Amino acid sequence: MSEIGKITKIVEKRLSPLRFRHSLGVADKARRLAERFGIDEEKAYLAGIVHDYAKGIAGSELLNIAKENGLIDDEVYREVPDLLHAPVGAFLIEKELGIDDKEILSAVRKHTLGDLDMGLFDKIIFLADMVEPGRDFPGIERLRCLVERNLDEAMLFALESTLRYCMDTGRIIHPQTVKVRNHFLKILK
Ligand SMILES: [Fe+2]
Ligand SMILES: [Fe+2]
Repeated sequence: MSEIGKITKIVEKRLSPLRFRHSLGVADKARRLAERFGIDEEKAYLAGIVHDYAKGIAGSELLNIAKENGLIDDEVYREVPDLLHAPVGAFLIEKELGIDDKEILSAVRKHTLGDLDMGLFDKIIFLADMVEPGRDFPGIERLRCLVERNLDEAMLFALESTLRYCMDTGRIIHPQTVKVRNHFLKILK
């Protein structure tokens, strides 16, 4: 079995069937976007497969892993520990799967909140996660179009959709999402 085949099997065992299907969708979309924007397609596929590696871990356990290993642990993370599945996921795929590629680790770390420093690879994984075929939210068709044309415009749209969703459903907003949204707004002006 290929390396990617082995990793896919491991991920399948860790995630719920629904979450695993989502990961396959993200991987596939990431590969297609990588082809479109001229970056390593297989690497993008692999990043999609592993991006939610820590998603099945309970919030208390995510907090423990984050604390023990000096990962980001601010007040909002304590309120919404599920957000930690991104940095904890990056930590675990390096430790448990031996993935040491800097771009994959960065993209997994930044896939929920985004970051002020996002390269092409980071944006492709972030956006593939938002638009894979299983996703459905108001504005998704517009986002799917933007993703094909302009990744920065798509990032702005995606972050604003996330902020709107958090407000509409009474969820806590991580200030990082606001910062990153303002960052993309500025660079598009
Ligand atoms: Fe995720
Ligand atoms: Fe995801």
